[in-house]
Amino acid sequence: MKFFLDTADTDEIRQYAGTGMIDGITTNPSLIAKSGRDVFEVLEEICGLVSGPVSAEVTATDTDGMLAEAARLREIAGNIVIKAPLTWAGLTATRKLADDGVAVNVTLCFSANQALLAAKAGAAYISPFIGRIDDMGADGMELIREIRAIYDNYPDFKTEILAASIRTSAHVRDSALAGADVATLPPATLEALAKHPLTDKGLDAFLKDWAATGQSLLKE
Ligand code: G3P
Repeated sequence: MKFFLDTADTDEIRQYAGTGMIDGITTNPSLIAKSGRDVFEVLEEICGLVSGPVSAEVTATDTDGMLAEAARLREIAGNIVIKAPLTWAGLTATRKLADDGVAVNVTLCFSANQALLAAKAGAAYISPFIGRIDDMGADGMELIREIRAIYDNYPDFKTEILAASIRTSAHVRDSALAGADVATLPPATLEALAKHPLTDKGLDAFLKDWAATGQSLLKE
């Protein structure tokens, strides 16, 4: 399973890129706004920090506008992936971009039929929004399971399932169990994955016992 970081904060990206666990980055207009920075400047910096795919979202709502923005975004770096919304304009833009060999992340997916359309449009990634479905009182993870089952029925589909709007460690575990190809995580959620109280407690005990021996693993 690949892990992407869902942030436009370059300090956080720098911090976690050093762990070797980050396979890519996803951004959206809200995350760019939160960074408080110029969109092109921040995306260029992000693309310099990670070699994997960096999703950059178009903001036009018509196909021609999306294609014009995609062309501009792709000038930033070779690892830019175009993110387009799951609308007919976005699907049409996705098909055209995919036909030109451009990787597209189709975002704002809330149903299995939307994911089916994205795969038919040639999307490189489909982004089902787990947390926002849970917010409505439904089961976001069920959508991941449905998309996995549908895509597995049609091996010609090459679209990867990118679990998005992840809010908890349980979302990550359940996305992995359901066969999502990628999970995009806010940095705090990634950080929490390694945490377990018994790990901390066990480590404290080991270090205490070790200190009592007076030994060192390094040559003096
Ligand atoms: O990048 C899109 C997505 O991950 C948004 O998450 O928490 O705003 O629903 P959230």
